Parts: sequence; structure tokens; C-alpha cells
Amino acid sequence: PRLLQFIRALPKAELHLHIEGTLEPELMFELARRNGIELPYPTVEALRAAYRFDDLQSFLDLYYAGAGVLIQEADFYDMTMAYLRRAQRDGIVHAEIMFDPQTHTARGVPMETVFAGIGRALRDARDTLGVSGYLLLSFLRHLPEADAFSTLEQALPLRDRYQDIWMGIGLDSAEKGNPPEKFARVFARCRELGFRLVAHAGEEGPAAYVRDALDILRVERIDHGVRSEEDPDLMRRLAQEKVPLTVCPLSNLRLCVFPSLEDHNLARMLRQGLMVTVNSDDPAYFGGYLADNYLACAESLGLDEAELATLAGNSIRASFLPPEQKAQWL
Ligand code: ADE
Ligand code: ZN
Repeated sequence: PRLLQFIRALPKAELHLHIEGTLEPELMFELARRNGIELPYPTVEALRAAYRFDDLQSFLDLYYAGAGVLIQEADFYDMTMAYLRRAQRDGIVHAEIMFDPQTHTARGVPMETVFAGIGRALRDARDTLGVSGYLLLSFLRHLPEADAFSTLEQALPLRDRYQDIWMGIGLDSAEKGNPPEKFARVFARCRELGFRLVAHAGEEGPAAYVRDALDILRVERIDHGVRSEEDPDLMRRLAQEKVPLTVCPLSNLRLCVFPSLEDHNLARMLRQGLMVTVNSDDPAYFGGYLADNYLACAESLGLDEAELATLAGNSIRASFLPPEQKAQWL
């Protein structure tokens, strides 16, 4: 299809992607076999058939269970490399990848193993695929802030070794009941340490969480942010300050944030002058990678080629790449 070709040819950055959410059922079964783990589904098809979600939590339950097959450095490498190859096909020139170390360290997987596997894939992709990548270490917001602090403590000794890729800190997992202020102190510490900051807000949680992520956590980008529309003052501020929103349309559809893609507010926010980007979130679970998200929005929301190009340009502008590298893609 011509429009898909057009989308793939646009230089794009992916800014909202959980690497554990790129684990396809086929690879999950392969890693389970490699590590002697029994999955609670008999086949790849049976597992894929279970990917029907009512809300964020129903997805998170499967997503954390699926990550249980990741044990060795090679597992993290294979998963990350598979995503980066797929990303290259979609015309992604730069990816800012979130990972959830607490999901792994809680199972006894050393922090070093997680960094080593993902980090080696990012460096290989840079050298062999021409795709650059940064890492954003995400804290799980359903756990206490003290756990985030100890996770930071475990990761900091690795900072020098990964200083070319570990750029920032994120906040994900169950949003409702876990407001930004719960992580005020650890985000202040990360800011002092010089990390770039992002947080999920306004996916299932209220617009007030978007405001508090900006004012209390002092993040530079909002992951999702679609519920900002419920607060007109906030919408004016997001437009004025050009705060990037990393929107994930197919994720929102699958997690029932919007009843249909035709009802999604991406185009409305874009046309109001907000700094909107399109991203895939957890593509193995939500039925589409980045170009699929662009294409689905073009078809359901009537985005024209100029708007698709604006979205792609926004993704480069909202990335944490240095200005001279952004300029190369703009
Ligand atoms: N972890 C992985 N995907 C997520 C999402 N869409 N929201 C919150 N936490 C997540
Ligand atoms: Zn996400």
C-alpha cells in the first residue's frame, strides 16, 4: 500500500516503547524452552488469543508474566535486537526504549544482566542497522518509592559503562491510585543526577496527574497524556509550552481508553497545536508496530500526508538526541 510506503519512508523516532512489550509469543516460547520454563499456554496461538484486555491492569498481569522467560543476557539481547530490526523496517532512525528492571531483579535476575543484554543490542543496532537507541529506566509505580530508590542504587554503578545509552528515567505500570507525588523524592534525585525525565500520565489517570508530572516530577515529556483533554487550562499550557505527548493509539484502543480509533483525540490535539507524537507502547501485545500505528490513525482519523510528516518531525524534535543529530533528520 502506497500510504504505508510513505509512512515508512519518513524518518521517525519511537519515544514510547517498553522493551518487554516487544516480546512476541514466538520468541516467548523459544526463551521458555531455552530456560526450562513452562508457560501456562499450550501454543503460540493460545497465548496470542489471550491478548484481549479490558483495561491497563488486565494487560499488565499478562505482560509481567510474559517477562518471566527473560533470564540470561542473551534473552534480553535477542528480544531487543528483534525489536530494533523491526524498527528499522518501519523507518525508525532512533528509539528511546523503556525497560522495567524491577520486573527482573525481583525474580533474581541481576541488574547487570538486564543492562548488558539490552545495551549490547543497542550498540550492535547502532553499528549494523544505523538505528540509534537510548535507554530510559522506568520505575514501577505500583511499588513503593523506597523500591524505586533501591533500584536506582543498584543501577547507578553501571552508569559509566552505559553513559552513551542510559539517558533517562521513566515511570510506568498501574496509574490509578499511584499519583506522581508518590515518586517526588526519587525523581528529584534523578534530576540532580542529570537524567532526562519522563512519566506516564493521563492514560487511565486524570488530567491532574499530567499537571503533577510536570510540576512535581518536572518531566520533559508526558507518556500518553490523552486525558489532558478533560482540562482546558492544561491543554492551553501543553500547547504553549510545547510539552511533547507520546501518544500510543493502538495501545489506547486495546486497553479500552477509547472505544474506537475513530474516537481517538490524537488528530484533535495535533490540530490544536499540541506537540503530539505517535508510538507503539507494547507492540507485541497491541497488534501493531510504529508504522501500523501511523497507518491506523491516517485511516481512522483522516490524517493527510502533511500531518503524518508533522507527527514524524515531532518525534525527532521531542527526542533526547543532541541538536546536531536532530538536524540530520529534520
Ligand atoms: N507498562 C507497559 N506498558 C504500559 C502502559 N501502557 N501503561 C503503563 N505501564 C505500562
Ligand atoms: Zn507505556
